[in-house]
Amino acid sequence: MNQIIENIYQRRAVRKYKDVSLGRDVIDELIMAGKMAPSAMNKQPWKFYVLTDPVKIKKISKDIEKIALKKLKEKGIKELAKLSLSLFHLSTIKNILVTADHVFYGAPVVIFITHQRDDEWGMIDIGMCAQNIMLAAKAKGLDSCPVGFAKFVMQTDDYSLLKIPDDEVVDLAVVIGYGDEIAEMPKRTNNHVIYL
Ligand SMILES: Cc1cc2nc3c(=O)[nH]c(=O)nc-3n(C[C@H](O)[C@H](O)[C@H](O)COP(=O)(O)O)c2cc1C
Repeated sequence: MNQIIENIYQRRAVRKYKDVSLGRDVIDELIMAGKMAPSAMNKQPWKFYVLTDPVKIKKISKDIEKIALKKLKEKGIKELAKLSLSLFHLSTIKNILVTADHVFYGAPVVIFITHQRDDEWGMIDIGMCAQNIMLAAKAKGLDSCPVGFAKFVMQTDDYSLLKIPDDEVVDLAVVIGYGDEIAEMPKRTNNHVIYL
């Protein structure tokens, strides 16, 4: 199979990482791949805020977790269970429960990707950018996970640590590292193609 297609099929959201740091050259190479993504009107709206300090990563993770849990609890326990089952394969739920970091999963690199607050296409652009980063990571033998919960960082007291200007928003982070689990593929739907 073509290598790109193989990477697309083999990339998984990995939620357990080895304690192995990544060099800045590798991180830069992945971000460069992110910047090769298409963007509406070629605005290239993304900015990357990279965390590699495990103490800061853990602290921000804990604070995001508190906010995310509060939001999820508001949905009720039934909805929470339904959401967990739709998001995660059962085997990964087990891993998540035993991992101390439930947001960034102990990954050595967390990249918050921002875009301008008033950019209509910003969220789509950073999604494409993030996918490039994750596929490039896969090509280099690394694993990753997109983390939407990362957006709650804007509501934490730690937000100032990231030095993100007010006119930017965080909708997504990507965590990267050497995976320490074989993540199973959540089932894909097969009834969403309508040829007309
Ligand atoms: C926009 C977006 C936000 C996501 N947020 C989270 C998240 O906060 N935490 C998490 O563990 N996984 C998150 N995921 C990963 C999805 O749960 C995962 O991609 C999906 O279950 C399919 O699994 P796969 O990526 O292994 O194919 C997110 C994925 C996307 C695209």
